[in-house]
Amino acid sequence: MTRPLLEVAGVTVRFGGVTAVDDVSFDVHEGELLGLIGPNGAGKTTMLRAITGVVRTDSGKITLRGEPLDALSIDARIRKGLALSQQIVKPFREISVLDNVVLAAGFAKTRFPMGALLNLSQVAERKTAHAMLSRVDIAGYAEQSPAILPLGILKRLEMARALAQNPRLLLLDEPLAGLNSNESEALATTIADINRQGLTIILIEHNLGEILRVSRRLLVMDNGRKIADGVPMTVMSDPSVRTAYLGGEPAHVETPSHVLD
Ligand SMILES: Nc1ncnc2c1ncn2[C@@H]1O[C@H](COP(=O)(O)OP(=O)(O)O)[C@@H](O)[C@H]1O
Ligand SMILES: [Mg+2]
Repeated sequence: MTRPLLEVAGVTVRFGGVTAVDDVSFDVHEGELLGLIGPNGAGKTTMLRAITGVVRTDSGKITLRGEPLDALSIDARIRKGLALSQQIVKPFREISVLDNVVLAAGFAKTRFPMGALLNLSQVAERKTAHAMLSRVDIAGYAEQSPAILPLGILKRLEMARALAQNPRLLLLDEPLAGLNSNESEALATTIADINRQGLTIILIEHNLGEILRVSRRLLVMDNGRKIADGVPMTVMSDPSVRTAYLGGEPAHVETPSHVLD
């Protein structure tokens, strides 16, 4: 087996007296779409933030393509191929949808994102930005202002911004939050398509139906700890997952009508 793309080994993150992530280890292989689930406060967001360097680990080691990330800044980790799409979408509202993605594409080149807009030779960035808007199915909104667009479009813009940085590993934190069921299904399908085109993804999601439909592997956290890691249907029938995650009730999770192949 080839070396994993990402290796998380014994990672612990504490905030004062709270152990948000408690000795968690897992690997992610190239091409995977790993679902990360667990109750509120389980430590999922903190785990992703530890990977991108937004929070510091108290112990453990995180490795991307064999290279330790722990001593690197957030910027350096982005340049190594990580992209984090946050739960709260925060586009620049004064500039167009397209320019928001141009900025993100320019980030790979300049340490000063606003400099990317002043730079006259943005031909490559604009081309990338157009391609990424198409990839997330919002090419028709390129010249509009984010200020007037609905959340469903802004979520796709956020994803296009992450993709424009040409990541090796995309980390998505509850991208479906706030969307209705049709929008959720459509965005989950877009995420699965992006994964099938070759991008490795870790997806945190509360929407169990959609995460079961698109993930091939599920990792479950509870109270900072990893409590299960494996094939979704096996994980969901694990008694410890039912107890911790579903309050002891049998998992009332419908088998998706059309599981993606
Ligand atoms: N910046 C922070 N400062 C202090 N405590 C935090 C911080 N971020 C998260 N926590 C705490 O860490 C625990 C895990 O939170 P989080 O990673 O956000 O969980 P999840 O994303 O699974 O809901 C919670 O108890 C939360 O209150
Ligand atoms: Mg969270």
